[in-house]
Amino acid sequence: MRTHKIAAIGADGIGPEVINAGLEVLNTLARVDGNFAFEVEHFPWSSEYYLKHGHYIPEGGLEKLKQFDAIFFGAVGSQEVPDHVSLWGLRLPIAQGFDQYANVRPARVLPGVKSPLRNGEAIDWVIVRENSEGEYAGHGGRAHRGLPIEVGTETAVFTRAGVERIHRFAFELAAKRPRKHLTLVTKSNAQRFGMVMWDEIFAEVAKDYPEVKTDRELVDAVTTRMVLKPQTLDTIVATNLHADILSDLAAALSGSLGIGPTANLNPERQFPSMFEPIHGSAFDITGKGIANPTATFWTAAMMLEHLGEADAAKKLMAAIEAVTASGVHTPDLGGKATTAQVTKAVCDYLGK
Ligand code: IPM
Ligand code: MG
Repeated sequence: MRTHKIAAIGADGIGPEVINAGLEVLNTLARVDGNFAFEVEHFPWSSEYYLKHGHYIPEGGLEKLKQFDAIFFGAVGSQEVPDHVSLWGLRLPIAQGFDQYANVRPARVLPGVKSPLRNGEAIDWVIVRENSEGEYAGHGGRAHRGLPIEVGTETAVFTRAGVERIHRFAFELAAKRPRKHLTLVTKSNAQRFGMVMWDEIFAEVAKDYPEVKTDRELVDAVTTRMVLKPQTLDTIVATNLHADILSDLAAALSGSLGIGPTANLNPERQFPSMFEPIHGSAFDITGKGIANPTATFWTAAMMLEHLGEADAAKKLMAAIEAVTASGVHTPDLGGKATTAQVTKAVCDYLGK
């Protein structure tokens, strides 16, 4: 019996609802398979916990997390805590502290789901987001607060090591996909230092992957290409902020933000990787039981793959797609189903 140790952090908003749904599906998979199991520990770190204790992650918390094979994460963000405090208090210390530099965000229109695009079925993308530096490096400052001469800086930091490793990761991933196509996205016309370095290092790394077709797009232009010619894109590599924005667009074009999954990977496996839906806390529907658990299920499939359970990952994807195709949809997809009903439908399919 293979046992996978999972740290579950539901955190804020609908996070705990979708993580619990995800665990139910994972446990069903394990039971049906019989050859692997999950050992799950729940961590109560959230904005509510922060308001009570003054911190998200207690002392020694990261050390404790290190002992797990993967982190299954819900969402962070609350109306009671400024967003930059919650982000820098929970998600970024894990992603950056565990050097999860490769953020992988697939986008596809699942069966039975309607894209707002006329030719949305053509969407089959993976966005590779640099996840350790760039615009999220945390460099900047404020001075002369409140005075007319007040200044705020926000410096993007790009290192050769950081850029090279994300390009290499993106090329490896692109090489494994049927179309073997990688698009580099930067803004190297207006930003002539770090962005030009991104372009140059991309060209260097490309030499090691002659089988991968490449092209380049500026970040503003790629948004129109995503909307008008989705079939021309396959794998995309971009900076932390650019890929953050593009991945929301990708999720919306795929039918709903409630579907998009993400993997924050430490490819060298020196630290556990973290798997989360990209949708965030969604206060408007928190507690109503109608959150779409599909993003979390897809995220769970990515986690299974990372844990070496490729067959189970495939089974789960097939179940997710059978359920979206059957029309059991939550309100974000225009349906009336609850989180529990979608979860049950997926579990029933797996149990067949
Ligand atoms: C994401 C989210 C986060 C980000 C937010 C919650 C800070 O939008 O994972 O895409 O920008 O990284
Ligand atoms: Mg985002």
